[in-house]
Amino acid sequence: MSTAKTTFKQVKRHFSPSMALAGKFTGQGAVEASASGCRVTLSDDRTVLDFGSYAVALLGHRNTAVVDAIRTQLDLMPTSTRSVLNPVPAQAAETVVEYLAAAEFGGTTAPALSKVYFGGSGADVVEAATKLARLATGRSTVVAVAGGYHGKTLGALALTHHERFKGNLGALLAGAVHIDPTDPEAVEKVAAEHDIAALIFEPVQGENGVTPLDPAILARWCADAHEHGAFVIADEIQVGLRRCGDRSVALAHGLPVDAVLLGKALGGGVVPVSAMVCTEQLYAPLTVDPVLHTATFSGHPLATSAVAPALRAIEEHAEDGNRIAAEMAEGLAGIAAEHAGAVTAVRGRGLLWGLDFRSTEFAGEVQVGLAQRGLVVSTCLSRPEVLRLIPPIIARTEDVKEALVALHGAIEQATAATA
Ligand SMILES: Cc1ncc(COP(=O)(O)O)c(C=O)c1O
Repeated sequence: MSTAKTTFKQVKRHFSPSMALAGKFTGQGAVEASASGCRVTLSDDRTVLDFGSYAVALLGHRNTAVVDAIRTQLDLMPTSTRSVLNPVPAQAAETVVEYLAAAEFGGTTAPALSKVYFGGSGADVVEAATKLARLATGRSTVVAVAGGYHGKTLGALALTHHERFKGNLGALLAGAVHIDPTDPEAVEKVAAEHDIAALIFEPVQGENGVTPLDPAILARWCADAHEHGAFVIADEIQVGLRRCGDRSVALAHGLPVDAVLLGKALGGGVVPVSAMVCTEQLYAPLTVDPVLHTATFSGHPLATSAVAPALRAIEEHAEDGNRIAAEMAEGLAGIAAEHAGAVTAVRGRGLLWGLDFRSTEFAGEVQVGLAQRGLVVSTCLSRPEVLRLIPPIIARTEDVKEALVALHGAIEQATAATA
């Protein structure tokens, strides 16, 4: 039996039949075999262009410097005793702190983000940051934003807005309150009724169809949260690290946040690693008692060995990111104008773009066309009528053109199929 057939059977049996079906369709009957740069080679020898990977492959696949650093660490000591200190996570912490300290800051006094907690997933650091805010303030209310996505572990899920992911879980983490993203007074209103531990927001809501929040409203919320003694957490797991142009979108907006959460691309697209980078005040409970929040693989040397080369490579490609962003903006505006009945909106910033289609069914048809044309994109699970295009920062002009041609063709095909 072919590798693809075996994989479908195993995924169906051990994971989920609908996962097997969706993957079978996206791979057009093939499975992943290998990857390099923007391209993924499939088991049937076809090569597809990766403008998806849920924002992980910012540097494409198998960035040489990242892979070399991980190889070196693999040969030295991939896992720590956790009893003796290891220099690799310590150096990675210093690197990520320096990276954000050098970020463009649009305000007057940049926050001193000097403390770090490493996780494996995005949800890991959402949990760490909100737990620390609750410990440091002795309060339990955490304010999140309607439409926001912060992960699916129980604590993070309480802050994620979309009902689809909550099912009938009932009482999740108590104290989560969701606010209207368009209401400048929303934090003040919650503060009138509750003692707030933290405000958490994504400056651009990626999963919610790539929806930027108004920086003026965010500034007001930050001021109100601080006025009431609450911490402010910027969840940039998807949009930070130049995915949306800046090292940190919140810092570029001049927001005096107490924590920036990073993930996805932090491991260079090779290993899973995430980070909470925060102020001493938010971290205070862990400074006093570092075992209050631990995880066996937090600060894993193999994973954290990727951080410095990943951040270096991202900075080396910062200008390329601006070029790709301009090419995407122009190309998608053209597609939206040409297919006005099909594409109802285009939103984006930097290397993160969302296309709204006239219906979920239509978006599904476009996905069929994209799969046939070998372009991988990421859906928005809470907004199935929106497709996300997430190009790597290493994409060449020809790659962007190829993606736009595929999109144009897929929309034409979907229009014909639904006429
Ligand atoms: C903004 C944001 N926060 C948190 C998460 C959760 O990250 P993970 O899936 O790695 O737990 C995601 C994942 O897409 C995200 O986009």
